[in-house]
Amino acid sequence: MRDLFGAELRWFQHIEETARRCFERHGYREIRTPILEELEVFKRSVGDSSDIVKKEMYDFTDKGGRQVVMRPENTAGVVRAAIQHKLLNSNDPVLFYYIGQQFRYERMQTGRYRQFWQIGAESFGVASPESDAESLVMLFDFLRELGLEKLTLSLNSVGTPESRPAFQEAFRAFFQEREASFCADCHRRIEENPLRVLDCKVPTCQAALEGHPRISDFLDAASLQHHERLKDLLTELGVPFVEDPRLVRGLDYYTKTAFEVLSGDIGAQSAILGGGRYDLLVKHLGGPDVPAFGWAIGLDRLAMVLQQVRGAAPQAAPALLIPLGERAATAALKLARELWSKGLDVQLETRGGALKKAMASANRMGIQTVLILGDGELDGGTVTVKRMATGEQESWALGEVAARLEAHTEL
Ligand code: HAM
Repeated sequence: MRDLFGAELRWFQHIEETARRCFERHGYREIRTPILEELEVFKRSVGDSSDIVKKEMYDFTDKGGRQVVMRPENTAGVVRAAIQHKLLNSNDPVLFYYIGQQFRYERMQTGRYRQFWQIGAESFGVASPESDAESLVMLFDFLRELGLEKLTLSLNSVGTPESRPAFQEAFRAFFQEREASFCADCHRRIEENPLRVLDCKVPTCQAALEGHPRISDFLDAASLQHHERLKDLLTELGVPFVEDPRLVRGLDYYTKTAFEVLSGDIGAQSAILGGGRYDLLVKHLGGPDVPAFGWAIGLDRLAMVLQQVRGAAPQAAPALLIPLGERAATAALKLARELWSKGLDVQLETRGGALKKAMASANRMGIQTVLILGDGELDGGTVTVKRMATGEQESWALGEVAARLEAHTEL
């Protein structure tokens, strides 16, 4: 579990601000659910046989004897909350987004942490492929607004529980013909949930899968139609995608659409986001029969990619106001207060002491504009303004500081 600060945290903040703006524009509203949920919430949604539930949960018994889990993801909690508060009982679409910490007891590596952050969006109440497209367009416009253009969507359809047995039968037969080539975990997976064999990261298993039966060849008519229409819409909207017949996702609740976006910029090919349709989960967790679609981005991974592609996160550096002497210190507090009340970014030097020391700090902090207020300036009703990049110096009338600083910041 990591501490976040400095340049990395600035990216987190910038991403979060952009996310809120983008999602609210589409009519999504924020939801915040607790970090602790009952164990059953995840067992019944993410799935008993998933790696998350089997190996990665921070679960414990609390002082009241309840079995609780530090949430490994947020979809199950959002569904639990929406059911509990009867938010899905009308026929209206319900659109939520969230930003929050998740916990998985995973092996640490670059981009994989035990406490990590997700930004997610979940849309409830609409089963159409247009709903998938709306959510994906929001996602890609958000990523583009952050300055990421070259990401490609890996897309698949995992069908429905009705369409899966025929695929599973064909897949089991395929597996049995070459079972010696698969790892021990895959031998367990083929019994518990054959789809997961497709997701195995062991290279020999991936090689043994060559020519495997594809879920897409076993889809029911409705899933197939949904998938084809979504691909047409994405093409029409200019959202690039590749079809990946092995993409099955590590969570059990998906039906029809499943997708991920990978980035080569974070070492081992890692997904920066994933999601899909989950039309059966709300009912399965005890709610009404409401279809849903959603995704979650790994904020830690997204920040890492952005730092590599774009360098430092955009941030307006505040001006630094340096008073010299006690009389100026009082005047500077008053001036700074006036500037803050007008929404201007100003940091106030309150240590007193020599100008040289304050200027050296300004340099280290990356301050671009310094306002100096000494006795001379006070008597003349001015401040001295120094631009750190050029060393340029000028004098502003005290009454004009706010307006000139505003104009200066806009440049
Ligand atoms: P997920 O694929 O398990 O899906 O996680 C989504 C994203 O969270 C991943 O693509 C990754 O970027 C990030 N992530 C996962 N584990 C870690 C980790 N240990 N360290 C850093 N980042 C990580 C879900 O969680 C689903 N709830 C997504 C969803 C929402 N499906 C429908 N709605």
